[in-house]
Amino acid sequence: MIVPRLITEGTMSETPTARRPRIALAGATGRVGRTLTKLLAADSLDLVALTRRPSEAREQLGIEVAEIDFANSKTIEDALKGTDRLFISHGTSPQQVTDEIALIDGAVAAGIGHVVKLSTMGPATRRNPVAWHMQIEAHLAQQPISSTVIRASAFAEMLLSFANQISTGTWNGAGENGRVNFVDTRDVAEAARIALLEDIEPESQRIYHITGPRAWSMQQLAAEFSRVLDRSVSYKSRSLGEQRAALLAGGLPPFVADLFTGLEQFFRDSALAETTSTFQELTGKPPRKLTDWLVENAAAFRQA
Ligand SMILES: NC(=O)c1ccc[n+]([C@@H]2O[C@H](COP(=O)([O-])OP(=O)(O)OC[C@H]3O[C@@H](n4cnc5c(N)ncnc54)[C@H](OP(=O)(O)O)[C@@H]3O)[C@@H](O)[C@H]2O)c1
Repeated sequence: MIVPRLITEGTMSETPTARRPRIALAGATGRVGRTLTKLLAADSLDLVALTRRPSEAREQLGIEVAEIDFANSKTIEDALKGTDRLFISHGTSPQQVTDEIALIDGAVAAGIGHVVKLSTMGPATRRNPVAWHMQIEAHLAQQPISSTVIRASAFAEMLLSFANQISTGTWNGAGENGRVNFVDTRDVAEAARIALLEDIEPESQRIYHITGPRAWSMQQLAAEFSRVLDRSVSYKSRSLGEQRAALLAGGLPPFVADLFTGLEQFFRDSALAETTSTFQELTGKPPRKLTDWLVENAAAFRQA
């Protein structure tokens, strides 16, 4: 195993002087972003969070904050001045493509050396419910800067959206016999830290596929929930049409219902079942086990 050399351990190509590298984080207040910010705070770096909600971000993160208004690209360029590297991990929304592309363009305009973008695993096909990530990746690939795309498998936190059902003992979905490899977002954040701090060649382009240690069928997962919660949990698979109708009837807006139904399709297709050794190679340790995450979060699945 080759442990990557990090820019905090010496100089980096972009900043040969002795000053501390400056890293900007778009999405620092999010699931992965919060953990990543905490990890980076222990490194010898200057950090700035790019956010739409400066006071919440300041309170939550305790680092420098720059307010971004996506209707005004100058706010992006101003916030990125003097920055060496940028991490991009915006939450899912209809604006994600235009906003993340605006951040990439701002990074190029500000002379940033390296952009790390969080994306998703799975094929770039019509059945991928978040295929818009590929549009952002394609735009990033055209830029004259170095980039790393972290393609993560399904986050373990996704299971929290089924917590109410699981607490009743019956979990409905449309996964059939498909398998999914859930990844712990703490591992995604650790991989992102290394990607951000790696000493890499100018204009190099890398992709890391980050997964958990194994894939699970929904039936196997229901059995594991039963074991961890010490009560019976069964998985009932229905058609994708029935799943979408149930989500809409539960009050979800069509954009979100379509996204979740698309993910069920992906589960059914085993499109997120791949297991990679990338996390282990980057960090020197195995990825966290889903069972440990279930034990840590068991309370959320016990409440009715
Ligand atoms: N869920 C999964 O299973 C999965 C798997 C692989 C990859 N991913 C990808 O991972 C990325 C990050 O996920 P996450 O769960 O860490 O993100 P998240 O917690 O939902 O959101 C991250 C941050 O994005 C910022 N943001 C900016 N504009 C936004 C908008 N219009 N709507 C929502 N948030 C916006 C917000 O920060 P401010 O409010 O401070 O601006 C928010 O805190 C996503 O792109 C997702 O597609 C997810």
